Amino acid sequence: MSRRYSNELIEQIKEANDIVNVISEYVPLKKKGRNYWGCCPFHNEKTPSFSVTPEKGFYYCFGCHASGTVINFLMQEEGLSFPEALGKLAERAGIPLPEEELTDVERRQNEKRRRLYEINELAANFFHNCLTKTEMGKVGLEYFQKRGLSRETIDKFRLGYAPDSWDKLYRAFTERKIPEAYLLKLGLVRKNDNGRVYDYFRNRVMFPICDGKGRVVGFGGRVLDDSTPKYLNSPETEIFNKGHLLFAFDKAYKTIRRTKQAILVEGYMDVISAHNAGVTNVVASLGTAYTKDHGRLLMRQAEEIILAYDMDGAGRKAVRRAIDLLQNTDFKVRVLAMPDGKDPDDYVSNHGRDGFLTIIDKAIPPFEFLLNQAMIGHDSTDMAGKQAILDELFPFISHTENSVKRDSYLRALALPLWLDMGTIRQSFKEFTRRGRITLVSEAQPVKTLIEPDSDETYIVAQAVQFPKAWQMVHDYVEDKDIVQEVYRTLLATCGKVLQETGGLSSAALETVLSEEEKTAYSRLLVLTDTQFDEIRLEESIRRLRIQSLRRQYKEHSIAADKMSRAGDTAFIEELKKCQEIQKEIQEWS
Ligand code: GTP
Ligand code: MN
Repeated sequence: MSRRYSNELIEQIKEANDIVNVISEYVPLKKKGRNYWGCCPFHNEKTPSFSVTPEKGFYYCFGCHASGTVINFLMQEEGLSFPEALGKLAERAGIPLPEEELTDVERRQNEKRRRLYEINELAANFFHNCLTKTEMGKVGLEYFQKRGLSRETIDKFRLGYAPDSWDKLYRAFTERKIPEAYLLKLGLVRKNDNGRVYDYFRNRVMFPICDGKGRVVGFGGRVLDDSTPKYLNSPETEIFNKGHLLFAFDKAYKTIRRTKQAILVEGYMDVISAHNAGVTNVVASLGTAYTKDHGRLLMRQAEEIILAYDMDGAGRKAVRRAIDLLQNTDFKVRVLAMPDGKDPDDYVSNHGRDGFLTIIDKAIPPFEFLLNQAMIGHDSTDMAGKQAILDELFPFISHTENSVKRDSYLRALALPLWLDMGTIRQSFKEFTRRGRITLVSEAQPVKTLIEPDSDETYIVAQAVQFPKAWQMVHDYVEDKDIVQEVYRTLLATCGKVLQETGGLSSAALETVLSEEEKTAYSRLLVLTDTQFDEIRLEESIRRLRIQSLRRQYKEHSIAADKMSRAGDTAFIEELKKCQEIQKEIQEWS
């Protein structure tokens, strides 16, 4: 395999990207013993058999045997090539890749992305300056002030104003030699049928949208009055993916991490008003519904998510969707039941920080929210109404993986509906049968520490990691002592690498191991200790040898027996072998 990267660089990049941190962005992981565990992203499973060992920087799935380093993970999860995955991790860690190690295509792509960020940055400045420094921006500034925003908030969010003109931005930017194609791509300008180019955002207040690192990736623009469309948003580009972004995450994550709580709202103004009032753990999904990717962003920061959506029809639907996606995750979820027709922005503006914090305190669990909604939506005094309420709640209940919780939900229905438990249980049973729903039981707890399954595993694991262990194994263990073929070839390959490089670095090994050996190698690293343990290794080698010798003894004595019965005098040779082995067993014992 031709390599454009040195092993040192690869090691450096791997070291700079904690494997648990990286994988946690895709898979919720829980620490159990030395390893982290989660549900494998590469095959469908409900009980976690996917393990990550941070000390060694490897993952291994006991279900589908997917395995590898943090680089392999990105390759597999995102379908990237090796250089692409490496590039992504280098960028994540702020390690510059030497230019000559990029292909032309990669260089061009990088350059293009850099330009896109740069132009958005310029546009954010353009809009912000219009708002804060120009006469024409006054309307915008007044608009924000009328909505209660302080100058500090306006600066912090770099809010802006797009002038009421057809081409102010276009002209300003082309004068600075910024290519039209980039402006079109970013959606800052558009071209009409006559080929005339015009500004996309006009006479709107502007909300820059930033990624987690605070880079401007797009814009939202709101009209100043009641005209439509109320909001215009930048199109998605290679640097702007709505489903992966949370508005204001870059400004909120520190508080989210500290308070372990994230408040999820729907609109730009909801976020900004809350921050303006001093509640800074608030983020929004951008006009799109909550997605699993949003959950991934929040996962490492928050333990609790508060859903604070508008209580209009669309908002209620969005809450339901979010509840569905958040069910059976590790997040604790609560729903903020705001007064009808109000959004968090209205609430914060009218009741201030303390008022908002008070209703956050009163946020209710999802089940309670769904029950309240159903009770409001149907007449719980007649039988058809009761049935409708049950049918609204059964999907949530049947998706609950914890059977104790499931039962407590069913019981919680009895009182408000004036139904006895027998009726409710019967109705639930019919519901699951109708929908062919199989109830799942909660995940089996994973074993906290997996022991290597045999001395053989332990010995090979030590030998592939520590040169001294490899030497001991080489000196004392015979090929036939090792039962698993792949371990034998793995040991041989390690011997070669040791001879050539003087060490057993995983970067060096990865370039020469076969697929099968690689899988075995990752599994070994996940399974066993990180330390070289000479005493334990000696002990394991002794047991392995004795076991192997006994096996050999048995083979030879069976052979001797067969031969003597067949009148073959060569059986004497076999018996001699048995005696030799017997002696060796005694020595090892
Ligand atoms: P204000 O009326 O300024 O308080 O805005 P809001 O944030 O309360 O807006 P609303 O509740 O109507 O909508 C919530 C979010 O949905 C907004 O922040 C936008 O992201 C998005 N949205 C609302 N209206 C439109 C629209 O007309 N077009 C698009 N593309 N998105 C919209
Ligand atoms: Mn609003």
